[in-house]
Amino acid sequence: MRIAVLTISDRSAQGEREDRSGPLIQEIALKRGWEVIAADIVADEQVEIEERLVSWCDSGEIDLILTTGGTGFSPRDRTPEATRKVVERLAPGLAEAMRARSMSKTPHAMLSRAVAGIRKSTLIVNLPGSPKAVEENLAVIIPALPHAIQLLREDPDAEQGHHLPPPHRTA
Ligand code: MTE
Repeated sequence: MRIAVLTISDRSAQGEREDRSGPLIQEIALKRGWEVIAADIVADEQVEIEERLVSWCDSGEIDLILTTGGTGFSPRDRTPEATRKVVERLAPGLAEAMRARSMSKTPHAMLSRAVAGIRKSTLIVNLPGSPKAVEENLAVIIPALPHAIQLLREDPDAEQGHHLPPPHRTA
């Protein structure tokens, strides 16, 4: 799985705050054997976010873009708007699952407006900004991501991916 990580934060873009969430996502990805193709930091500027997402998606070299930050209620939080603007198809189940599971961690989970969607053959998923939220939200979606990417790539083995190993089965 080839991934790219986009940190969206005015303060980190200006060098006023160390970006801990972007490197944390990269660390989690590398531990799973995923390839980190690109990583960047941009300010909470909708057009800048859109441009970065479009260029990564349209490169054809990235399966999954994980963004962190800018999903809340602050006036400058524009990550979901930028993501919605560039995706062709929404993937609401991922964001629904993250919010639902995160409610057992904090009621503030309902303040994340994160979205997920597909542009061409790249999946984009918004994660909140704090390292704690990144870790908790990624843990929710990780079991479904390899199969999601198989389907996007029209991988002939995708059929087998419908069957998760027993620990993930429900019912
Ligand atoms: N989800 C989980 N699992 N854990 C958290 O600590 N923080 C919440 C929420 N989602 C949180 C979480 C908070 S406090 C906010 S304001 C929103 O994500 C949006 O965060 P963002 O503005 O940094 O994107």
